[in-house]
Amino acid sequence: MVLLNVEHLSTIFQTSRGDLRAVNDLSFRVSKGETVAIVGESGSGKSVSAMSIMRLLDESRCRLSGKVELKGRDLLSADEAAMRAIRGNQVGLIFQEPMTALNPVVTVGRQIAEAARLHETMTRRQAAEKAIEMLTRVGIPDPRRRANEYPHQLSGGMRQRVMIAMALICRPELLIADEPTTALDVTVQAQILDLMRSLREQFGSAIILITHDLGVVAEMADRVIIMYAGRKVEEGTAEEIFARPRHPYTKGLLGAVPRLGSSLEGKTGRLVEIEGTVPDPRVATVGCAFAPRCRGAADICRLSQPGLVRTRSDHQVACHFATELVVA
Ligand SMILES: Nc1ncnc2c1ncn2[C@@H]1O[C@H](COP(=O)(O)OP(=O)(O)O)[C@@H](O)[C@H]1O
Ligand code: SF4
Ligand SMILES: [Mg+2]
Repeated sequence: MVLLNVEHLSTIFQTSRGDLRAVNDLSFRVSKGETVAIVGESGSGKSVSAMSIMRLLDESRCRLSGKVELKGRDLLSADEAAMRAIRGNQVGLIFQEPMTALNPVVTVGRQIAEAARLHETMTRRQAAEKAIEMLTRVGIPDPRRRANEYPHQLSGGMRQRVMIAMALICRPELLIADEPTTALDVTVQAQILDLMRSLREQFGSAIILITHDLGVVAEMADRVIIMYAGRKVEEGTAEEIFARPRHPYTKGLLGAVPRLGSSLEGKTGRLVEIEGTVPDPRVATVGCAFAPRCRGAADICRLSQPGLVRTRSDHQVACHFATELVVA
C-alpha cells in the first residue's frame, strides 16, 4: 500500500539574490512499513524535500508545487491546523539537531507526555507514566530522574533519544529522520539505529531516512533515492543500488563504502569526496547538472537535461548513458 506519494515536487526560495531552486521535480513513493533512504551531498535538497513534504518551511519565502499525498490525502493544500495534527500523529519527525525541536524550558518528561496527550485522550498522570515508559524503551538510564530534567542537562545522544521517544510515542505510520545520527559518535549512532529498527518492527512504521552515510543506508534501507542538485538522479532497491549503481554520481559516492549488510562498527561509511562542487542552485543549468564533474560527460550532456529512465523494474536513472554505462 502506498503511504506517501510525492509527485513533481518543486521548492523554490525567493531570495534577495534571485530564485533558488532547492527541489526540482521530485517524485517518489513510500509504501507501508518500508524504509527509504535519501542520499546526497550537502546542499542537494534532502532537508528541504522533507520540510516541504511536512510543510515546515516559511511559505511566505518559498513556492511549493506538485503533489504530496499521505494515504491519498493532499498535504500541499492542507491548512496549518490539519498539518499540526498530522505531524504529531501520523508522521513523526527526527532532525539532526534535537535542541531546535525540543523546548528548552520544559522538562523532557513533560514534553513527551504532552506529545502523548495530543495523540490520545489520557490524564496528565497517565501521560507522565507513558513518557517514562517511552524513555525506558529508548534506553535512557534512570528514566524517572531524567524525565524531570531539561534538554540542556542531557547529552547529545540522550536528546536524540528523547526526540525519537517523542516522535514514536504516537506510533507514527511514517517517521522522517533527517540525519538522525550525524552529530553522534559511532557507538551512540549504532544504538540509535538499533532503536529505530526495533521500533520499526514493533510499530510497523515506514521510515524516510535522510543521510549521507552509506553505511547507515546499507544497514537500514529497503530502497535508496540519490539526489543531486535538487533532483532525483537514481532510485532503486538497496540491493540494486549497491550492486549495480548506474549514475556516475552514485558510482562516485559508492567509491569506498561498506558492502550491504556489513556492520557499521569501526567503519565510517562517509561519502567519498567527489572532485568539484554542487552547482549554485540560483543558476539555471542547461543540460545535466552533474556534467562539470562527470568524467563521462559528452556534448549531449551539456545541451540537454537527462530525464529519468527505468533500466529495470526496480531501478530508475537520470543519465543519457544510463543503459550503456554498466561498467566504468
Ligand atoms: N530557508 C532557505 N532559504 C533559502 N535557501 C535555502 C533555505 N533552506 C535551504 N536552502 C538552500 O536549498 C538548497 C538545499 O538545501 P538542503 O535541503 O538543506 O540540502 P541538504 O539537506 O541536502 O544538505 C541549498 O542550496 C540551501 O542553501
Ligand atoms: S548525463 Fe552525461 S554528464 Fe550527466 S551523469 Fe550522465 S554521462 Fe555524466
Ligand atoms: Mg540537510
